[in-house]
Amino acid sequence: MNPTAVAQSRFERLHARILEARARSNELFEIVRPEALYDRPIPERHRIIFYLGHLEAFDWNLLLGPLGLASFDPAFDKLFAFGIDPVDGGLPGDQPKDWPSVEQVQRYNARLRKTLDAALRTVAAEDPGLTRLEHGRLLDVAIEHRLMHAETLCYMLHQLPAERKFGRTVPLPPPAPPRVLRRVEIPAGMATLGMARMQDGPFGWDNEFEEHRVEVPAFMIDAYNVTNQDYLRFMLEGGYRDRTLWNETGWEWITSQGRDHPVFWLRQGDSWAYRTMFDKIPLPLDWPVYVSHDEATAYARWTGKELPSEAEWHRAACVTRNGRERPYPWGTEPPGTRHGHFDFQRWDPAPVGSFPDGSSDFGVADLTGNGWEWTRTLFAPFPGFEAFSFYPGYSANFFDGKHFVMKGGSPRTAACMLRRSFRNWFQPHYPYVYATFRCVER
Ligand code: AVJ
Ligand code: FE
Repeated sequence: MNPTAVAQSRFERLHARILEARARSNELFEIVRPEALYDRPIPERHRIIFYLGHLEAFDWNLLLGPLGLASFDPAFDKLFAFGIDPVDGGLPGDQPKDWPSVEQVQRYNARLRKTLDAALRTVAAEDPGLTRLEHGRLLDVAIEHRLMHAETLCYMLHQLPAERKFGRTVPLPPPAPPRVLRRVEIPAGMATLGMARMQDGPFGWDNEFEEHRVEVPAFMIDAYNVTNQDYLRFMLEGGYRDRTLWNETGWEWITSQGRDHPVFWLRQGDSWAYRTMFDKIPLPLDWPVYVSHDEATAYARWTGKELPSEAEWHRAACVTRNGRERPYPWGTEPPGTRHGHFDFQRWDPAPVGSFPDGSSDFGVADLTGNGWEWTRTLFAPFPGFEAFSFYPGYSANFFDGKHFVMKGGSPRTAACMLRRSFRNWFQPHYPYVYATFRCVER
């Protein structure tokens, strides 16, 4: 094959992924009843209407310059440019009337997609190596940004009351095979974090570079995620009332907000129900518990353990018993349906231990999918970090000592972001994420 044909097929592959990602985000907006598009299901985030414009404006703001295009609506480009992540506890106060109409946003979106697609085709024909698009990387940024929002928007729509969504009937997941191990000893050794910077290497976000090795002392780690049943015991034994289990800011948060249970749980007389994406069901005892970092930390302390560090998570996931490291817990095969619960297979978690084929060589289960895993590591740059020139704030705005690293992936994480170097992050009080945890002992 001549190099041009190869490069062009690369563009076609990227463009097909853009279209696929758009179908994912379209699908989410179709869940929202029209009268709910100006709702704000999570008080500290924007109204849903913002995201309708944001997914498109982001691509546009990113690609406009490199494609040599001119803005046709600078006000919308700016209005929909960035989301919010308030760290001071302040809440947005905008009103629905402060936002444009759905029709205006949809017209903006349609024109923008059409213009972008035409310009992309032209540029790819003239410049098959996509040098103007950072060798194609800008398209990976657009794709993964949209797919990340397909997940975070799902957290948001999860909190939207059922009568504000178009309902769906989704079958419950099948039961899991019996759990075998309880915990596993991981010997002392090295963990390789991050990704090597290479000319035509695979895509990674700025915070994934550079690759580096860290020494990790021996530790014991739970083979499975903490389940709703495990967490219920912590609650029944007064976990939310014991000040000594909580960090100062965590205690302030749960007491000021009156929180005494996970946000996905619903009190029903003297028992518990669970809010799934479209329904309300009896608390599924064998599902991983989804909680905030504060709640996970309090539980770990209650058991006399702690959360894993990012490096410990890496060793548990990727190191083999003969000391090699592999790209995924199960080996080198790309993520497939038998390896775990991810890539939009379902809307809600599966019982822990449902995917033994995805276990690590040490027998640690469900590391990839079924819920991100909180670590005790603060989100901070790796040595050699360089912000993307075309998106300087993506990570650097969050190196503030107020966000913690999550690893692994959830049922709503796209397969392309399951690479081991991928790092996710949220604030410790934030309870809406599809995030669970397991504990370690040192
Ligand atoms: C990486 C998921 C924490 O949602 O705040 C989306 C991703 N950044 N738009 C977030 C993101 C800008 C980010 N997380
Ligand atoms: Fe965004």
